[in-house]
Amino acid sequence: MKTICILSGTDRPGSVALKVSNYIKPLYESQGVKARVVSLEDFPLDEVIGGKYGKELPRVEAFRSQVIDADGIVMVIPEYNGSFPGILKLFVDYLPFPGAFNKKPIAFIGEAAGAFGALRAVEQMQMVCAYRNAHTYPERVFLQRVNKLFDEDEGIRDDTISKLLQSQIEGFVQFLSQVEEMQSA
Ligand SMILES: Cc1cc2nc3c(=O)[nH]c(=O)nc-3n(C[C@H](O)[C@H](O)[C@H](O)COP(=O)(O)O)c2cc1C
Repeated sequence: MKTICILSGTDRPGSVALKVSNYIKPLYESQGVKARVVSLEDFPLDEVIGGKYGKELPRVEAFRSQVIDADGIVMVIPEYNGSFPGILKLFVDYLPFPGAFNKKPIAFIGEAAGAFGALRAVEQMQMVCAYRNAHTYPERVFLQRVNKLFDEDEGIRDDTISKLLQSQIEGFVQFLSQVEEMQSA
């Protein structure tokens, strides 16, 4: 069975990103994959204070392996100041180079209070992941005006967005197998 890591892309306590991540977990599981939610709230920030690049960091290693050992990653990304949260870049900067995202299927969900649903944040993160040789999944989902659109119990309050999300989930699960076939060909 394939494993998906749903990465909640912020360390903000009570974040919508984590609520969306928890909401999509059972939707992935119903497609026959194992899904785990990993929140950047749990990134061991204290271990990297002072800039510990290239050092042995057992807690960072344990944290990041929950993400990069999965067959695919779904990033749930809020928009902060026209970009993705700094903690997400820090996480990427502490991944092993160059292999961590190499040929890794990655899908993106943006969420923001604003009208663009974190389009900028997602596109910027797609560039970073493409630089690291990930297979970025082209169907993205943007949750605009997320505080009205999404409720953690009710889910997505808009049929079109809800269908787009379901389509991304089903498509991304197929994409995992397609990438695997391509690599073994
Ligand atoms: C530091 C910070 C910067 C933000 N910048 C933006 C922004 O550039 N565009 C936007 O639409 N919303 C912005 N917001 C609002 C967030 O998109 C909104 O609060 C969203 O729900 C945050 O996601 P989170 O709950 O997962 O942290 C910002 C919020 C924070 C905390």
